[in-house]
Amino acid sequence: MMRNVIGTAGRLFGEAHPGADETTFQVDNTSEAYYNSPYYRLHKNQLQPVPSLRTRPPRICLADVADTAFVDNIIQAGKIVFHAVGDTGAAKSSGPVTEARVADLMAADVSAGGPLAPAFFFHLGDVVYHFGEGQFYYDQFYEPFRAYDRPIFAIPGNHDGMVFGAKVDVPKIPTLQAFLRNFCAAAPGPSPDAGGLVRSVMTQPGVYFTLDAPFVSIIGLYSNVLEGPGVISSEGGKYPVPDGQLNFLAAELVRLKPLRQAGERAVILAVHHPPLSVDGKSGGTKGLSDDIDTACQKAGLWPDAVLSGHAHLYQRFTRQVKGRQIPYVVSGSGGFAATPPRPGVPPAPVTVGDVTLVKDPIIAFGYLTVTTDARSLTITFRSSNSGIAPDSVTVDLQRGVIKN
Ligand SMILES: [Fe+2]
Repeated sequence: MMRNVIGTAGRLFGEAHPGADETTFQVDNTSEAYYNSPYYRLHKNQLQPVPSLRTRPPRICLADVADTAFVDNIIQAGKIVFHAVGDTGAAKSSGPVTEARVADLMAADVSAGGPLAPAFFFHLGDVVYHFGEGQFYYDQFYEPFRAYDRPIFAIPGNHDGMVFGAKVDVPKIPTLQAFLRNFCAAAPGPSPDAGGLVRSVMTQPGVYFTLDAPFVSIIGLYSNVLEGPGVISSEGGKYPVPDGQLNFLAAELVRLKPLRQAGERAVILAVHHPPLSVDGKSGGTKGLSDDIDTACQKAGLWPDAVLSGHAHLYQRFTRQVKGRQIPYVVSGSGGFAATPPRPGVPPAPVTVGDVTLVKDPIIAFGYLTVTTDARSLTITFRSSNSGIAPDSVTVDLQRGVIKN
């Protein structure tokens, strides 16, 4: 029998003997009622504060979390594989099954082992619905991913940061309290929200941060609590949040540029709200997209791919910018819901300006697998509905051209 992975400082990830999937939630999720709470009703169109960073600059290395042999194996394999998906928190009356199917497939990819087994899961936000409460971390996060024997990093989604309360002035629980406890802890150790499961809390430096790993750096951004738009800065005074995150993005792109140009590191951007989307609700976020563009222009470096969640389906765009083709992939398909795009979207391919919707959106649960050796990058969507064919895109990173 394979030994489970033990990370730095005794971190644990998966259960040694994971039991069968649960068929009902341990804690009944009644938090939809909080949409009617006085605090939420008054403040629902307002941003919440961005929690201060634990360490600056906010960076974490895979080697801070996984031991030397684990990281050396990736380097020797010559490429890294990881998972990404958002909106996994299944909180609906249908029960845990939609999330469990996706999580079980991801865990099976890991258990299959070998040099191309995924090294980690980068969660694209909305870990816990509807208000990110600690009491639902077991049902919506720890239990579904109990067999996933790898580190899990996350950027928060709007639901992770949303707050409620019986008083109009102060939320009952500060924004992102449970997210910070479980993903941005000062030290590894068991989570009080894990119901006895072994997964250690993650020690990210903040809700926005860069994960540096062999062959890839992922810059994760926090796009705040609105259903839409996603917001990462004041947008020139429009929103009452600081511009620190935007400055961080530009500075990280500057730092990573030489590594990217030397062919050592692919650079991926992850943000919960999709800059581009044809979903029924948000339809993409112009201010956020402009902020990202400004930072890229300033740094003279564009990401090799942009990954998002929030819209509960799979969408793949290609953006043509500065002579490069960049996939913008939306995979908010982790278990909460599968929701159709807005009506009237013509069949793909559809080009508007520098953006092409390459593929008809897939309205099904599923997840992304990303593979890169820093010279080429492949993103594959696999559905938990076995009747749906996978979709895949490969970018030649040296030429900035999509190969398929
Ligand atoms: Fe969301």
